[in-house]
Amino acid sequence: MKKQWWHRTVGYQIYPKSFQDTNGDGIGDLQGVIRRLDKIAALGANVIWLCPVFPSPMVDNGYDVSDYMDIDPCFGSMEDMKELIAKAKEKGIRILMDLVANHSSDQHEWFQKALRDPYGKYGNYYVFREGRAGGPPNNWRSIFGGSAWEKVPGRENLYYLHLFTKQQPDLNWENPELREEICRIIREWMELGLGGFRLDAISHLKKNYDYEDLPADGPDGLCLAFDHINNVKGLSDFLLELKEKAFAPSDALTIGEYDNMKPEDVEAVIGENGSFSSVFDFSHTHHNVYYPEWNGDTLGMFNDYRDRLFEAQKVVDGRGLLCNFLENHDKNRCIDRFLAKEDRNPHSIRMLPVTNFFLPGIVFLYQGQEIGMRDFPKKSMDEYVDAPTHAEYEEFLKKGLTPEEALFRINSNSREHSRTPMQWDGSENAGFTTGTPWFAVNPNYTWLNYEAQEKDPDSLLHFYRKLVSVRRRPDLEETFIYGRLIPRLQDRSGILAYERRDERNRILVVTSALSEEMRLPLAEADATEALMNESELLLDNYETAPLFEKGELTLRPWECLVIRLGGKERGTD
Ligand code: NOJ
Ligand code: CA
Repeated sequence: MKKQWWHRTVGYQIYPKSFQDTNGDGIGDLQGVIRRLDKIAALGANVIWLCPVFPSPMVDNGYDVSDYMDIDPCFGSMEDMKELIAKAKEKGIRILMDLVANHSSDQHEWFQKALRDPYGKYGNYYVFREGRAGGPPNNWRSIFGGSAWEKVPGRENLYYLHLFTKQQPDLNWENPELREEICRIIREWMELGLGGFRLDAISHLKKNYDYEDLPADGPDGLCLAFDHINNVKGLSDFLLELKEKAFAPSDALTIGEYDNMKPEDVEAVIGENGSFSSVFDFSHTHHNVYYPEWNGDTLGMFNDYRDRLFEAQKVVDGRGLLCNFLENHDKNRCIDRFLAKEDRNPHSIRMLPVTNFFLPGIVFLYQGQEIGMRDFPKKSMDEYVDAPTHAEYEEFLKKGLTPEEALFRINSNSREHSRTPMQWDGSENAGFTTGTPWFAVNPNYTWLNYEAQEKDPDSLLHFYRKLVSVRRRPDLEETFIYGRLIPRLQDRSGILAYERRDERNRILVVTSALSEEMRLPLAEADATEALMNESELLLDNYETAPLFEKGELTLRPWECLVIRLGGKERGTD
């Protein structure tokens, strides 16, 4: 793999609205990010992914952009953005913005002009189609629920396409003029010194406009036509054009939100000459211990998670790097998602991030993950703001769940849990704002907050700092990035273990999701006694030394270990 600057990325994702407010309006802002840069540097991150801060009516908290070349006043100004880029750079941190180019806001000037003249220049920036038989052009379902087509107000039989909410009309990527416009926008931002972009919904740019209705997948007669709206043949032409015209000239780091990358597409998407630097590995995002299929079975789910992680790595097979993460703004918190109530303890919550942090790839943490922020279940749906969360609730009711059952499902998986304000300290509103926060702070902030953990050397925060420092240690970093991956002990239920190996190091990572001790013969972990004797313990979640004895390793409940193996055998197969 040809070496690139961004291979060394340890990223930190910020949801600006909930990160830090500095002017008392209850909404996080860019000055808030600047204020907290020290904390991100102390964690050891060197890239920040900033969720959208462009002007927006905020129907989808910024994923509905009404002007791609400015900053929403609620977040600050262009000057603030420039200041953030510069101050982050001083700390060795590069900023990624979030490019939302599959759709714009319906309030974008382009769309407003398009509505006035759907058959003119800007009409061709969007997807307008005539309806059929008194209804929409076909029965496609929007990803956020309901029909993917919305009737154009004041027109007899004209509809526009929106894969997300109706306030997010899809842009027409078949139009070269639109593509050129997006490339220009990217280049202008890159000139301001950005590190690159995270690319929202990027696998949906190309659609297969087939007007036949598809077999319904629900009682409403609609169909989520994934094969027609995701990873459609011809998508790569758009992506390569983007790369050549917009990203390559400034050597940008680009991370695609790319659903369902097929094995045969790996090379074209993230290979050496692929469209993106990396794509998020979503192999674990369908795991939630409270989904009916797992029903509280942490262990069963953990085994499935492990197998999918290794499968994703096998498919990529060293041809590129996946982006490994556990949390983002679209998922609830990992402690609540991966661990049943009785399985949450100081050991298990430290073990979780180790599972994928040392795999090949670049790694991302999400704000609040480093202090173990938790879901905040609500007593009523009125306390949720997010439109898709409400749509999902309605879907549950339609499927016959009682209101209590539907609320339970929402409470155990809404993406809005990850959007509660960042818990900085124990003062009112967790130090997030002096005003009224836009979304309620989790009341656990009185004991679960950044300041308290910063003072406590045994806290989760300090564990995360250690985690990052091991990942970035100069004599180990290359092994973690480019070393071979050798999965270990895959037939052992509850154990996720792997080795990373190159000519310099041999590093063993072992994690356990077992609530009891487990004896592993050392040979099974492929670590002979000689190797163990000269080894260096890089990371552990117990205070006392690992239990190696008489050729066996006794793994304690929820233990995780990262060990640089020593001895003569280092570097051999
Ligand atoms: C994916 C983003 O991560 C999500 O938050 C957003 O709602 C959709 N794309 C639509 O832009
Ligand atoms: Ca503010």
